[in-house]
Amino acid sequence: MAQRVFSGIQPTGNIHIGNYLGAIKNWVELQHKYDSLFCVVDYHAITVEYESDLMHKRVLELAATIMAAGVDPNKAILFVQSSVPEHTELTWLLTCITSIGSLERMTQFKEKSKRQKGGVFAGLMNYPVLMAADILIYKADLVPVGDDQIQHLELTREICRRFNSMFKEVFPEPQPILTKAARIMALNDPTSKMSKSIEGSYISMDDDDQTIRQKIRRAVTDPGPQGGEMGPGVKNLFTLLEAFGDAADVKQLAEDYKKQSLRYSDLKATVGEAIVEKLAPIRHRQAEILAKPDTLTDILVEGGKKAQKIASETLAEVRDAMGFKMPQK
Ligand code: AMP
Ligand code: TRP
Repeated sequence: MAQRVFSGIQPTGNIHIGNYLGAIKNWVELQHKYDSLFCVVDYHAITVEYESDLMHKRVLELAATIMAAGVDPNKAILFVQSSVPEHTELTWLLTCITSIGSLERMTQFKEKSKRQKGGVFAGLMNYPVLMAADILIYKADLVPVGDDQIQHLELTREICRRFNSMFKEVFPEPQPILTKAARIMALNDPTSKMSKSIEGSYISMDDDDQTIRQKIRRAVTDPGPQGGEMGPGVKNLFTLLEAFGDAADVKQLAEDYKKQSLRYSDLKATVGEAIVEKLAPIRHRQAEILAKPDTLTDILVEGGKKAQKIASETLAEVRDAMGFKMPQK
C-alpha cells in the first residue's frame, strides 16, 4: 500500500511566499508519489483572536490558492477540517492522554500566549493535540512541515506511542518530511522568519507584480559582497532565487558574489522577476477558481466525504480500543 501523507495549513489570511515554499509547493510534488490528504485547518485558526465573518471567505481563498498552485483534487484529497467532525472527537480522546507539561513547553504556545491580549484560552494550549488528531486519524506515515512545526510533530509521535502502548497498536508513528525551503526569512529583518504577523516581512500570494518588485527592492541586505559567507538578507534572496528562478541565474549570481562583483540591485531585479513570473499565473488561476464558488464548494464537500470515510474507520478502532463499546448509529 502506498504511504500516506497528511498536511494542513491555517486559513489566517495573507498566505505568503514562506507558506507557499514551506508547505503548498511541496504538496504539489508529494501528491504524485503518495496517497495524500491536504487540509485547510480552520479549527486551528480559532485558537487565537480571529474574525468570524471573514472565516468562510478565507477558507475558500486558501483552498483556491492550494489548487491554483497545482494540488489536484482528483489526485489528493483536499478538504476543510471542520467538515470532518471526527477530528475533534479524536482530539478529546487524545487530550486525555496528553500531559499539560508537554503542551506548556511548546515554543509556539509560549510565543502566541504572549501576544493574546484578550486572555489565553485552553484551545491555544491544546492546539498540538488537534494537530496530532489530524495526522493520526488518517494513520499518516509522512507529514511535510516547515521546521517551526517539528516540535508539534514530536509531540504527535509521543502521543501516538502512548496511545499504542496504553491501548492497542492503532497508529503508525508519523515521520516529518522537512521541506527544502524550510525557513524563508523576513524581508525587512532577515534574522527572523517571514511571518504574516510582521508587517513588511512578507510577499503575499495576492500581491500584484509591482508590489512584488517593490518589496524585493526594499529587502534588507548588507553594504556589499564580501566574497565570504553571505549575510542573512543576501542569503535569503538567494534562497528565493533558488526556489523561484532558474539554476543558471543562481550559478551566475553566486559566482559574481564570490568575485565581489555582484550588484545587489541586479540580484534584486532577478529575484523580483523570478517571483513575479511564478506567482502571476497562480494568482490568475486562483481568481478563476474563486469565480466559481459552487464548483469549489463541491470539490471541498467531496474531499470532506472521502476524508471522513477514512477518519470514521480509525475513530471506530480508537473508541473500541479505549473501551467504548456502544454501537454508533
Ligand atoms: P503558518 O501559517 O505560519 O501556520 O504556517 C503554515 C505553513 O507554512 C507551515 O507548514 C509552516 O511551516 C510554513 N511556513 C510559515 N512561515 C514560513 C517561513 N517563513 N518559511 C518557510 N515556511 C513557513
Ligand atoms: N500547525 C500547522 C501550522 O501552523 C498546521 C497544521 C495543523 C498541520 N494540523 C496539521 C500541519 C497536521 C501538518 C499536519 O503550520
